[in-house]
Amino acid sequence: MTIALSPSVIAPETGRDGDFAGSIIAGLREPQKRIESKWLYDAHGSHLFDRITELDEYYPTRTETGILRQRAVELRRFIREGTALVELGSGSSTKTRLLLDALPELETYVPVDISESHLRSAADRLSRDYRNLCVHPLVGDFTDEIVLPPQLQEAPKILFFPGSTIGNFTVQGATGLLTSLRGMRNVTAFVIGVDLVKSAKTLIRAYDDAEGVTADFNLNLLTRINRELGAHFELSAFHHEARWNAGRSRIEMHLVSRCAQRAHILGEQFLFSEAETIHTENSHKFTVERFAGLAADTGWHSDPMWTDPDGLFGVAVLTPGTPSQPAD
Ligand SMILES: C[S@@+](CC[C@H](N)C(=O)[O-])C[C@H]1O[C@@H](n2cnc3c(N)ncnc32)[C@H](O)[C@@H]1O
Repeated sequence: MTIALSPSVIAPETGRDGDFAGSIIAGLREPQKRIESKWLYDAHGSHLFDRITELDEYYPTRTETGILRQRAVELRRFIREGTALVELGSGSSTKTRLLLDALPELETYVPVDISESHLRSAADRLSRDYRNLCVHPLVGDFTDEIVLPPQLQEAPKILFFPGSTIGNFTVQGATGLLTSLRGMRNVTAFVIGVDLVKSAKTLIRAYDDAEGVTADFNLNLLTRINRELGAHFELSAFHHEARWNAGRSRIEMHLVSRCAQRAHILGEQFLFSEAETIHTENSHKFTVERFAGLAADTGWHSDPMWTDPDGLFGVAVLTPGTPSQPAD
């Protein structure tokens, strides 16, 4: 069966939408069609992600939360006068509250996220609940240069990157991000959530839940492309799939075409054969040793990783070090 989807030439109006359009078109032109996972997070995608974090199958959030609840107070040794907490991919800033409660000395919080309305409402809620905290939300892609308000540029900083969002990057991407963050001035500690290798069964369940919330999260990308780029994807013509790629130690999310079909986006035609996929997210799983190696290669010193008793998830506390030399 071939489904013909109507062409569209609705052009995006803003620079940010332009990034979205260019990235979608470039990704769909590749032999293995792909969409950068950051585009999963429009307002509805962020809401769906919050629902995922509450699912029984999704062990990462409750496990990381348990670790932080127990250990966050140990971060006090990294606090100097005027220390700011800078969080990458802050989402709903739920785990942030554990740090703010354990470390009331923190006076300033800078959440950075690409999902604008979700970021702003999370920042508003936090400002209401923590009356003495200065909150400076930054909307944008944290792989670009993070430009802090002038008064914070020289301030001591604790970087916070929970949720295992680092796993969404390829080894090369993660290396680039950790290296560039190493260049940020006056970072006293970098607290980063790392999902650990475990059975494929547990992993697949976490990324393909029984209720279908993760499927909706993945398919929402097509809704977003329809809305923002005037495409006409038929959502029922695709299904969500989570795959364990053992060679690369990662869960991959794909949108699988149920039939041969074509789509038109901004005047360009894209053909899909039956069972062809769009690769929409990677979620790399680390061993404690492999993550310590990545940190060392990018100029960070790591303390022993905090993990839960079952070894499902880790929180690494990194401090600025010197990059390890490649072996001869
Ligand atoms: C896996 S969720 C984690 C959310 C939250 N930190 C947690 O631990 O539950 C990833 C978050 O990072 C944001 N995000 C993903 N890629 C991003 C990027 N390149 N730049 C800025 N934000 C990004 C998403 O909008 C989302 O809020």
